[in-house]
Amino acid sequence: MYKIVSIPGDGIGPEVVAGAVAVMQQLSKKHGFEIQIEEHPFGGASYDLHGEMLTEATLEACRNCDAVLLGAVGGPKWENLPHEHKPEAALLKIRKELGLFANLRPAKVYDALIDASSLKADVVRGTDFVVFRELTGGIYFGQPRGFDATKGWNTMVYEGYEVERIARLAFEAARQRKGRVMSIDKANVLEVSQFWRNVVIEVHKDFADVELSHMYVDNAAMQIVRNPKQFDVIVTGNLFGDILSDIAGMITGSLGMLPSASIGTKHALYEPIHGSAPDIAGQNKANPIATIASVAMMFEHSFGRPDIAREIEQAIEATLAAGLRTADIANPGDATVSTTAMTEAIVKNLSA
Ligand code: IPM
Ligand code: MN
Repeated sequence: MYKIVSIPGDGIGPEVVAGAVAVMQQLSKKHGFEIQIEEHPFGGASYDLHGEMLTEATLEACRNCDAVLLGAVGGPKWENLPHEHKPEAALLKIRKELGLFANLRPAKVYDALIDASSLKADVVRGTDFVVFRELTGGIYFGQPRGFDATKGWNTMVYEGYEVERIARLAFEAARQRKGRVMSIDKANVLEVSQFWRNVVIEVHKDFADVELSHMYVDNAAMQIVRNPKQFDVIVTGNLFGDILSDIAGMITGSLGMLPSASIGTKHALYEPIHGSAPDIAGQNKANPIATIASVAMMFEHSFGRPDIAREIEQAIEATLAAGLRTADIANPGDATVSTTAMTEAIVKNLSA
């Protein structure tokens, strides 16, 4: 039995999570395993109920399940709360509390969507890389931090063990892929980056079969749009990974397609990369694919079932190949389908 905590959150979160739940139910029927899904509030939805974006009860539920599925958090209603009450703060807290130090964001181009990218088809066709972003350290968490009337400050700091554990995951992943790791830093300027690079080089000694190279982050931003096919596994710190994974996201044409996994030693959380899209919330327009693809990552990384992950991905591909498009991935003039219609088609392709 798989015990999953679902936290739909705000905006389109509940709609896309409903799509993912339908997919999980179909899989459970098809393969005969039991899935128990327990829903908990998070983000604005939780704030409205309990005056807190992330309650101890939700956190405790997340600690006691096999995997967490998250929709999206935030919206205009909660934007003007003080910094420490913002949905962003809750997201950082859940990552830290669950020890989710590695954020995996695959950038894979679906052939059927090649024209949805703002880049030339020849540049993006065949792109398939994954960003390993360090998620619980670096400048997002470093002390001291703050601001007063005359200045603001943050600290970018990495401990050796923090670099080592994410580097190991990246090298291990490369072994299952094309065998190449690109570590991205700013070692020409930042001491913390020189340290990062030294540790990665040290860890690499255990992975001599994997090719390691290094790139400065400014050049990497350029190379990802110039020739995305050159990358296999990218490993980088929290802030650089945040920025580079958004750039990487656009290669595929729509943020509505991109899943992510945040994993630690004990816990794992899966979520679409896109936000809560308040402008289209409640209209049955959102693209559920990123959340459904996040379920594929869950089966691969948390449940050791890459076969089921492939099944989900194939159902998505077949649905796209049949021409179904939500508004975000439609070309001008294309007919579009709703969130529920897209979900139903994927569920149907799963049973085929
Ligand atoms: C992301 C988001 C978050 C981040 C924000 C919302 C805190 O941009 O998941 O990439 O910066 O990590
Ligand atoms: Mn981001």
